[in-house]
Amino acid sequence: MSDTLAIIGGTGLTRLPGLRIRDAHDIQTPYGSPSGSVLEGVFGDSRIFFLARHGHPHRIPPHQVNYRANIWALRHIGARDIISVNAVGGINRSMPTRALCIPDQIIDYTHGRESTFYDGVDSPVVHVDFSYPYTEVLRSQLLVAAKAVKVPVVNGGVYGATQGPRLETAAEIARMERDGCDIVGMTGMPEAVLAREAKMGYACLSLVVNPAAGKAKGVITIKEIDRALEGGMEDIRKILVSYVERFVVGH
Ligand code: HPA
Repeated sequence: MSDTLAIIGGTGLTRLPGLRIRDAHDIQTPYGSPSGSVLEGVFGDSRIFFLARHGHPHRIPPHQVNYRANIWALRHIGARDIISVNAVGGINRSMPTRALCIPDQIIDYTHGRESTFYDGVDSPVVHVDFSYPYTEVLRSQLLVAAKAVKVPVVNGGVYGATQGPRLETAAEIARMERDGCDIVGMTGMPEAVLAREAKMGYACLSLVVNPAAGKAKGVITIKEIDRALEGGMEDIRKILVSYVERFVVGH
């Protein structure tokens, strides 16, 4: 049982439908401002926190999200576990548009992002173990929650984190496929490692919103992404409600 859960909402989830907001915390951190207020509210029957990664409305691009401030703020307010929701491109065939994936590995292709709390200035240099970047207990609980509401999810997959904000070239995706990536997104890192450094549980629920570059005829359009987001968010909401009912203590 998680006593305090935070949900980080990505593209398409800047507000959590069904969250009865009780408070909005504006938290200043040693790393600057988070993406917005941390909302505290009741979801299902439990108290949770919610933070919109890109702000509300969506305005912060993936490479400019202050990941350190976001994770620091959630830890500070008392969250222990994070479920991160994000939109991704599908690379391999088992990840068609509208598939939901709970990845179990990451390859990080981002650059120039502040990616540690241990930068050696006021803190020791620490090399945190990151062999298994997602918290297995949270992953299994998410799988149980999804099964209970009959929403199919793919158990496991390699999340390739790219810099953005542009989408990838077809050659980049082909390389990522050779590397073993199953899905591609722009926000999975450094969020996951910062959660690890902050000693928080962290798992990801990824919605495939388009075939990655070169994986379908033609170019990727915002229209197709928006369409997939609209349909997929209801599935995500169902899983989150089911998760909170089962695994987060009531308020
Ligand atoms: N690439 C990177 N990030 C994404 C994509 C993509 O194709 N779709 C949604 N987020």
